[in-house]
Amino acid sequence: MPGAEPAVTLFTGIAQLVTPPAGPQRGAAMRRLTVIPDAALLVQGDRVAWVGQRQDAPDAATTHDLGGAAVTPALIDPHTHAVWAGDRLADFEARAEGVSYEALLARGGGIRHTARATQAASVEQLSALARPRLEALQRSGAGTIEIKSGYGLDFAGELRMLRAVALLAQQVKGTLCPTLLLHVPPTEGRVQHVRDVCETLIPQVARERLATAVDVFCEREAYTLSETRDLLTAARAHGLAVKLHADQFHCIGGTELACEMGALSVDHLEASGEAQIRALAGSATLATVLPGVSLHLGLSAAPGRALIDAGAAVAVGTDLNPGSSPLFSVQQALALSVRLNGLTPAEALTACTVNAAAALGLHNRGALVPGQRADFLALHGPDWRDLAYTLGASPVQAVYLGGDQRA
Ligand code: NIG
Ligand code: FE
Repeated sequence: MPGAEPAVTLFTGIAQLVTPPAGPQRGAAMRRLTVIPDAALLVQGDRVAWVGQRQDAPDAATTHDLGGAAVTPALIDPHTHAVWAGDRLADFEARAEGVSYEALLARGGGIRHTARATQAASVEQLSALARPRLEALQRSGAGTIEIKSGYGLDFAGELRMLRAVALLAQQVKGTLCPTLLLHVPPTEGRVQHVRDVCETLIPQVARERLATAVDVFCEREAYTLSETRDLLTAARAHGLAVKLHADQFHCIGGTELACEMGALSVDHLEASGEAQIRALAGSATLATVLPGVSLHLGLSAAPGRALIDAGAAVAVGTDLNPGSSPLFSVQQALALSVRLNGLTPAEALTACTVNAAAALGLHNRGALVPGQRADFLALHGPDWRDLAYTLGASPVQAVYLGGDQRA
C-alpha cells in the first residue's frame, strides 16, 4: 500500500543480544562487543529501530518471542567461489598422496580443471549447481555472501558465471555480492590477454553492472605483480572496487600493492610476514583470513593474531571452492579462525560481521544498532559463544533477513 508505515515487530525472549559497533573495527577494538542480557530488538521494515533491555522496550503491535535464544548479527561471508561445475575429488586424493596444490595447477589441473568443467555449463546449470551451496551457507548463518567468477576459460565463460550469480540473486533470500575474479592467465598470449581484460572485459562488466569489485590472484602460478597493477588500475578507472588474493604461497608484493591502491581487502595471507602485516595495519584495507584453506591444504594459517595485535582490521571468510576450501559453513569458518588464526571469540564475531561487510564495501549491516539492516541470528542456546565454540553441528537455530525469518 503506497504511503503505508513499515511493519514494526518487537523481538523478545532474547537471553543475550550481542553486537559489535557499526563499521569496521581494527586492533583491540575488534574485541569490544556490547552484550545486553534479557534483551529486546525492535524492527521497523527491514531495519533495526531499537535495541535494549526487555523492560525498557517500546510497545509494538506485533511481538515475536525467540524463546530464550542468544541473538547476534547475521554473519557475512566476504569470499566465496560458490559457482563451479565438476569436482576436484581426484585432486584431493592426489594431494593426500603427496602432490602439491601448486604442482597440480602447474601441470594444467587444479583451477584449470574446474575451469574446463565450468566452461561446459550453461548459466542455468551453473546457478542450479550453486544454489544448494548458497543455501548451506545461509543455514550456517550467512545473510550476505560474496561470489567470485574466475573459472571461465574465456570472457564468455566469465560472463556466464556472473550471469549465474545475477540469476541466483533473484532466487535466494539474502544479499549476493558478485566479484569479477581474474584467476589464472592463459598459458600463451598473456600480454594481449591482460590488455583485453583491461580494455574489453572490465568495461563490459562495469557497464552491465555484473560485478561491484574486481579481484586478482597475484601469485607465482597466476598473475604477476605488474599484471595485477594493470588489472586493478583498469578496474578502478571503471568505478569498480578492487581486492586481491595475495600471499597464499609466496609474498610477491600483492599485499603492499593492494594497500597502496586502496583495495577493500587482501585475502589469504598465509605466507605474510612482518612487512605485509605492517602494510595492512597502516591502511584501511581489510585483511581477510580463510581458515578453511589452511585446514584443507595443510598450509600454515594466516597470522590473524599478529595482524590484530599490529592494529589491522581482520575479516574471516569461508573461501568456499572445490579446490582449496570445501567449507560450506560460515559459522565453521568463524569457529576455525579461533583455532587456526588465533582470534578470540569476540574478534571472530567482529571479523565475520562488520569487518566482513567492510570487505565488501557495505556499511549498512553487520551490527544490531538502529539504522542497520535487521539481519540477525537466533541461536539454539542462550550464550553467543556457541558460535565460536561448536564444530560439526550448527548452533544457529534461525536466520532473520531484513526482519523476516528465512524459510
Ligand atoms: O581462494 N587460490 C586461488 N583461488 C582459490 C582456489 C580456487 C580453486 O582451487 O579452485 C582460493 O584458494
Ligand atoms: Fe579464493
